Amino acid sequence: MATASAPGKIILFGEHAVVYGRPALAVPVTQIHADVDVTASSRPGIWIHAPDVNLHAELSSLPSDHPIASVLHNFFFAFGISPVPSLDISITSTIPVASGLGSGAAVTVALMRALSSHLDKLMTDEQVNTFAYEIEKLHHGTPSGIDNTVVTYARPVYFIKGQPIETFKVGAPFTLVIADTGISALTKESVSDVRKLWEADKVRWEKVFDEIGVIVRNAKEKIENGEWRALGALMDSNHALLQEMTVSSPELDSLVESARRSGASGAKLSGGGRGGNMIALVEKDKAAQVAEAILSAGARRTIITEIS
Ligand code: PMV
Repeated sequence: MATASAPGKIILFGEHAVVYGRPALAVPVTQIHADVDVTASSRPGIWIHAPDVNLHAELSSLPSDHPIASVLHNFFFAFGISPVPSLDISITSTIPVASGLGSGAAVTVALMRALSSHLDKLMTDEQVNTFAYEIEKLHHGTPSGIDNTVVTYARPVYFIKGQPIETFKVGAPFTLVIADTGISALTKESVSDVRKLWEADKVRWEKVFDEIGVIVRNAKEKIENGEWRALGALMDSNHALLQEMTVSSPELDSLVESARRSGASGAKLSGGGRGGNMIALVEKDKAAQVAEAILSAGARRTIITEIS
């Protein structure tokens, strides 16, 4: 039997602009994770049990583009595993789906690691990351690769599309409240809408992406120097630029406002936007009060996490 786990992730700064070559900062969120067990099965076939999505099926009964089936087919093909031994694969996840927390990438990474360990096909982190990126591309169009990178390495990442992975150190720990609007939104759609804006006026949007790039580099420096209190204003500026890009929503704006009113030093949407999650920077002793206020403003759930 083999088991593997992969964390969720949150983008701190730079979403969307990262698709256009600007940097972004993202960190793993270890309180939420995907977990996979692979064991030899006593009945023939590849049996998948994923109770969170109510899936109990044999692989050949799933469409080949099903997210889990596509990981399995690609894995067996890449390693030339044929015939495939009978397996029972159990997948559980505490990461909310379609909300910008890296659920898809975490399931892919945990599944590949459990398979590679059970079948003795050792994979480096780099191979896992490359593989997970290919799977992200199948389901998300033109992803930058930030999700699979943070989830694979489970470290804070300063990400620039197409460049070697660069991690960053956190000079002093800081606390975030992550809050879910409860609205699932497809990142693919917000990314495609931003592309339409960009195509219609490249000069304007390149300038906006540049402004976001400046915020991201500044934020990285502050985090490394332990000056995390300075991040609040940077989050507010980044959120305003994301609003301009039309990827916020009334629900996200209302949670961001309630966070600021209840004592957060800054807040912004995180990820693809339109729904999904927002993050608020708080003093540790104010985290519970801010989380409470955001819940009263309509958040579905909150997670308090320390970035260290
Ligand atoms: O919605 P998420 O957390 O998967 O983040 C998407 C981040 C974008 O920059 C909007 C898209 C991308 O591929 O980087």
